[in-house]
Amino acid sequence: MKFETPATTNPIDRLRVVGQPLDRIDGPLKTTGTAPYAYERHDVAADPAYGYVIGAGIAKGRITRMDIEAARRAPGVIAIVTAETAGKLGKGKHNTARLLAGPHIEHYHQAVALVVAETFEQARAAAGRVRIDYAAEPGRFDLEAARWSAAKPSDEATGGAADTKVGDFARAFDAATVRLDETYSTPDETHAMMEPHASLARWEGDRLTVWTSNQMIGWAHTDLAETLGVPPEKVRVISPFIGGGFGGKLFLRADIVLAALGARAAGRPVKVALHRPLMINNTTHRPATIQRIRIGAERDGMITAIAHESWSGDLEGGGPEVAVNQTRLLYAGANRLTSMRLASLDLPEGNSMRAPGEAPGMMALEIAMDEMAEKLGIDPVDFRIRNDTQKDPEKPGRPFSARPFVECLRLGAERFGWSSRNPVPGQRREGRWLIGAGMAGAFRNNLLVKSAARVRLSADGRVTVETDMTDIGTGSYTIIAQTAAEMMGVSLEQVEVRLGDSAYPVSAGSGGQFGANNATAGVYAACVKLREAVARKLGLNAADAEFVHGTVRSGERSIPLALAASSGELTGEDGIEYGDLHKTYQQSTFGSHFVEVAVDAATGEARIRRMLAVCAAGRILNPKSARSQVIGAMTMGAGAALMEELAVDKKRGFFVNHDLAGYEVPVHADIPHQEVIFLDETDPISSPMKAKGVGELGICGVGAAVANALYNATGVRVRNYPITLDKYL
Ligand code: MOS
Repeated sequence: MKFETPATTNPIDRLRVVGQPLDRIDGPLKTTGTAPYAYERHDVAADPAYGYVIGAGIAKGRITRMDIEAARRAPGVIAIVTAETAGKLGKGKHNTARLLAGPHIEHYHQAVALVVAETFEQARAAAGRVRIDYAAEPGRFDLEAARWSAAKPSDEATGGAADTKVGDFARAFDAATVRLDETYSTPDETHAMMEPHASLARWEGDRLTVWTSNQMIGWAHTDLAETLGVPPEKVRVISPFIGGGFGGKLFLRADIVLAALGARAAGRPVKVALHRPLMINNTTHRPATIQRIRIGAERDGMITAIAHESWSGDLEGGGPEVAVNQTRLLYAGANRLTSMRLASLDLPEGNSMRAPGEAPGMMALEIAMDEMAEKLGIDPVDFRIRNDTQKDPEKPGRPFSARPFVECLRLGAERFGWSSRNPVPGQRREGRWLIGAGMAGAFRNNLLVKSAARVRLSADGRVTVETDMTDIGTGSYTIIAQTAAEMMGVSLEQVEVRLGDSAYPVSAGSGGQFGANNATAGVYAACVKLREAVARKLGLNAADAEFVHGTVRSGERSIPLALAASSGELTGEDGIEYGDLHKTYQQSTFGSHFVEVAVDAATGEARIRRMLAVCAAGRILNPKSARSQVIGAMTMGAGAALMEELAVDKKRGFFVNHDLAGYEVPVHADIPHQEVIFLDETDPISSPMKAKGVGELGICGVGAAVANALYNATGVRVRNYPITLDKYL
């Protein structure tokens, strides 16, 4: 169905099931270890062989000789797959570098071989006997050094314009009474999800089935078929349980392709997991950025000029980190400039990590806003409120579908107790601890993505939903079941949700915080179809039929829902599409973050004491799973502020700290108290669900709120993330 705005009153608005803080349906399966992950599917392959991936030992150059004879003779070895033995491979749309390389090497730990053996240990031992000689070439690994040779990326690589201009920035900035011109940097980051990339592949004749861990089944399906040169209808991709993704599993990766090639070579099912040290350099990461921000304002606190320029790097053919996104939309100002430049780097492939663009972009912009507020002598909450805009500041006349940014700022300030903060830094002390408070705005776009589903009603009155949507730990199973239960007027227990299978209709998938709103809207559309089929079958008028408590009511009549399927199952299949809606309305989500920190006055060791987020993200489909998304995102934002950083070996071109010992992420002890408030909002322009995304809104701005709190505590302004204690010296 084509979504017509604004969404009118529909069964979702009853909020009997939707909007309830229900436990996740898959929760017990995951917490008891009984949810089968791809690598554990003993039920579909009783006697699989094991593949061990060998990653390139250089960042750039070529393989001059690969000797696999000793490995071939090693105990248990069944097959060895290399670019030479695999034959010609295609390339999917969503990866930049080839997933099996040779002889030419594009980045460190790019897969160059798969050793398949009877056991994992045999495969690993044999992999150690593969001898590879390389001719290494010099590469570019340093963003700072490559910054001035960075080029303007294509609109395609950027997913929009690289540059935007409104008014005359240079003139307005020169004329401004108060000016800020500062440069910020964010490091390369890795997703660090719990479950590694892992796949099990099984061929039956020319038909391939892959059990894997992937966020976007539609993309994985078509890209896998394209890569292998197999018709898509012969390929099936299954991914019902996923142990985290954060964008690291948006795309087809080496584990899937090599499991398929290994299984073909071995003549039996093959499992491949990328071990942790391989994941970091073999798969994608969030690219580092350098961001220059200039803001000019008058004494009344009104911004007259704002510019945000961002530099990032990627492999040839890749794209930039779109860190200027939010600056195009968040604050008023008549004269504006944004630009992105892309340096060619020979580091591993950069790509999306939770809230690509806004997460690192807000880390810079929201420190700049704090610095500017201080220069103006205006409270940072007040400064943001004064510069609110209800229209897209780059495309005047284009409204936001909803924009309660000011409400988020005010409510956050009130609940946090912002008024008791001392605006002069370094003044509050408790024993050895310097105490500080900081805040930031939150902003993340709300993407409209078409999404389809199939819903079936069986004779026992049960409703089954099938869609290739994934649940990466976010709660998709639960909100989809809630949607179907609401639409069909049955209890949650009557609904079964089947996800993550390319045999089902293609959904929005999980990414860019677009999963919840779009996937449930697709299920809504399919349920509308099923309701029509039910009404027809029962001789009722679909338009006034009410589906409630397992019955269908129309006028004086009330008929059990199950009766409609008594002579055979009924099916409704449809999807949601939005057409050009994104051109008429800017769709975004808003919020605010408030943080209190303590910093050891002698060592600079930082502790977060409490965090508060206010989120406006349309209707909240399930306050419990939505809260979990936001506190997870706040935790990730704290990690970005204080510890997360891939260390680049700028000589050899790889990320050195390629495990969870060297790459630090926050643990429970780092995050003592988090509060999340959802603004009571429905957005009838976002979808029939009137919901929006929230899982990425929660990370956008947190890092800067922590940074601003650290400044308030210490009086030392650090502009290079992560803010580790050595940066106070
Ligand atoms: Mo998200 S970075 O689009 O999975």
